[in-house]
Amino acid sequence: MSQQQQTGPLRHFLQFRDFTKEEILYLFERAKLIKDKFKRYEPHRPLHDRNLAMVFEKASTRTRVSFEAGMYQMGGSVIHLTTGDSQLGRSEPIEDTARVISRMVDLVMIRTFEQTRIERFAAHSRVPVINGLTNEYHPCQILADIFTFIEHSGPVEGRTVAWIGDANNMAYTWLQAAEILGFTLHVSAPKGYQLEFARVGQPPARVLRQFDDPLEACRGAHLVTTDVWTSMGYEDENEARRKAFANWCVDAEMMAAADPAALFMHCLPAHRGEEVSADVIDGPQSVVWDEAENRMHVQKALMEFLLLGHL
Ligand code: CP
Ligand code: NVA
Repeated sequence: MSQQQQTGPLRHFLQFRDFTKEEILYLFERAKLIKDKFKRYEPHRPLHDRNLAMVFEKASTRTRVSFEAGMYQMGGSVIHLTTGDSQLGRSEPIEDTARVISRMVDLVMIRTFEQTRIERFAAHSRVPVINGLTNEYHPCQILADIFTFIEHSGPVEGRTVAWIGDANNMAYTWLQAAEILGFTLHVSAPKGYQLEFARVGQPPARVLRQFDDPLEACRGAHLVTTDVWTSMGYEDENEARRKAFANWCVDAEMMAAADPAALFMHCLPAHRGEEVSADVIDGPQSVVWDEAENRMHVQKALMEFLLLGHL
């Protein structure tokens, strides 16, 4: 067992901005090396004997499989907990859960509701904590998305990303990434579902431009991306959202307004015919399957960095 061998101050990845630009670029470098080794069937096991606990308070396919497969590939092991099968579902305080779990494992990933909940966990954890999605942020997904963008289209700095749809956890994380990595985010969301500046402050125009018309937001963009109209935890708003978002379906006309070499991304799961048309998500500009696979490669780099630092 290797717990407590890490050196330096305890680091967490609770929001995208917890890491500097240099650290994010380092993660991309490592993710590329790790992915190349994976493709060559070459073992990469720097986390031999390390143990990751994953706590899911919401459903998941990609996040679970990418962290679990990734940790095993790096020589470690994984414990999977959900609200329903742990004492979290019987109201054990998150602080006590953090104190206990972090005495036994080397690293924790949590998917939960409020950001304050993961912050409370991290404040009482002895080991690094990773945000596997909260209501406010989804930083691992944006790591994968930008890594995928770089693979297909080169550096993201100075480019334009169009976010079409709900100003949700993905949108707020894109906004942090735009500030840190130096690209421009175009956002178009229906009234009532737009970014709230009371929460994040008003970013400068080189970082964020907002559009009423989603087609205008796509104009000239190097990446067009969207997400479900109703995120997990907001299901009782489903009907109201269906009506409000009816014009925010990324379709061929929107892709035609973007740069001719523009990519399409979606964190998945997707609803064809709602936030994206089938011809776009299944079309030649879509890189959603690379995007999903890259969750694993960037998270392997992230876990390696949190446990071993720069190598
Ligand atoms: N994109 C994503 O986080 O997918 P899951 O909800 O399946 O983990
Ligand atoms: N915004 C979505 C992302 C799912 C991966 C949600 O929070 O449900």
